[in-house]
Amino acid sequence: MKTYLITGGAGFIGANFLHYILKRYSDIRIVNLDKLTYSGNLENLKEIEDNPNYTFIQGDICDKELVEKLFKDYNINYVVNFAAESHVDRSIKDPEVFVQTNILGTVNLLNCAKNFWYTEGGFKEGVKFLQVSTDEVYGSLGEKGYFIEGTPIDSHSPYAASKAGSDLMVKAYFDTYKMPMNITRCSNNYGPYQFPEKLIPLLINNCVHHKDLPVYGDGLNIRDWLYVEDHCKAIDMVLQDGRIGEVYNVGGHNERTNIEIVNSIISYLNEKVDKEITKSLIKYVEDRKGHDRRYGIDPSKIKEELGWYPETTFEVGIKNTIQWYLDNQQWMKNVTNGDYQKYYENMYEGV
Ligand code: NAD
Ligand code: TYD
Repeated sequence: MKTYLITGGAGFIGANFLHYILKRYSDIRIVNLDKLTYSGNLENLKEIEDNPNYTFIQGDICDKELVEKLFKDYNINYVVNFAAESHVDRSIKDPEVFVQTNILGTVNLLNCAKNFWYTEGGFKEGVKFLQVSTDEVYGSLGEKGYFIEGTPIDSHSPYAASKAGSDLMVKAYFDTYKMPMNITRCSNNYGPYQFPEKLIPLLINNCVHHKDLPVYGDGLNIRDWLYVEDHCKAIDMVLQDGRIGEVYNVGGHNERTNIEIVNSIISYLNEKVDKEITKSLIKYVEDRKGHDRRYGIDPSKIKEELGWYPETTFEVGIKNTIQWYLDNQQWMKNVTNGDYQKYYENMYEGV
């Protein structure tokens, strides 16, 4: 029976991953370590909180004593590191916490894992550290081409730079100590439980409340959208069968301009929910500083080596996602209480 230390499991992708693997496997134990920052929410995990194979620990990945204790107490085999500060706009305003959690927190996890897993003869059998990273470490593409695993790191935002820093530390633990590891780099995820600072849930929430839909710059920046459940499946496959020391890109040739995303959400909600939701809500606003123009993933490696492919088309994924937010308006209300309003009022101040 393997024991997984999942960090950041109360956030968007972590929570989806926990639902995914606890449905799939009955012979695993999960320890979920999450600090419960603004984007972590135990409501995301209500369905699994009584599962006997699941334990929640509130704490910081930077806390050495705590992480060491978790390794010992639970005899951890796998680490899947989701915990992070994850929002580009926040990183532009306040980069320090990104360095703290994303780089120093990852180094603390790596060190505790190494100390627990390493014996005289090398690393124990059946252990692995999986770092959940992002295509943003590669920087920005022009009109043509895709990110492959060998694309040089050229991160731009403080968020992306902090993720690149943590990836390089994970690589260093493999190159130096031979720590069994993988890094996954995926494109933009969407789906249930995503905090409404990110484009898709923010748009849905604003539409429902007839609020402006802020479009940065000319609205023609491109992201390569990945349904979160397809991402969870990829992480599971890499954890089980990924070649040690390798990076895997995860994405599905699903590129859309931001304005296409805005229009598809408006048109779905206009047709199904409320005729007052129209393009008149669109508001072009000042561009994000250093805004990456285009992300696009070449997923050939994970497809050829592990047989992964994204099963959810954008048309199906976006309908499921919009419907989930419509069905879970109390969730949206709960997560947008308090500090959320303050964040929007101050978003561009002091940048
Ligand atoms: P999220 O912001 O929704 O969740 C992050 C979680 O980490 C929260 O539960 C938060 O409480 C927790 N956390 C933050 N700091 C912590 C700390 N110091 N100690 C313990 N827990 C802490 O983020 P997400 O969108 O679920 O992203 C998960 C991971 O996937 C991140 O590493 C992110 O960089 C990566 N990623 C996300 C996307 C995306 O589209 N969302 C794309 C590529 C990569
Ligand atoms: P976001 O969801 O923040 O993800 P990332 O910056 O990590 O790709 O943003 C996705 C795209 O949408 C990005 O090009 C910025 C743009 N955007 C807007 O135009 N308006 C918004 O209110 C937000 C949050 C993002």
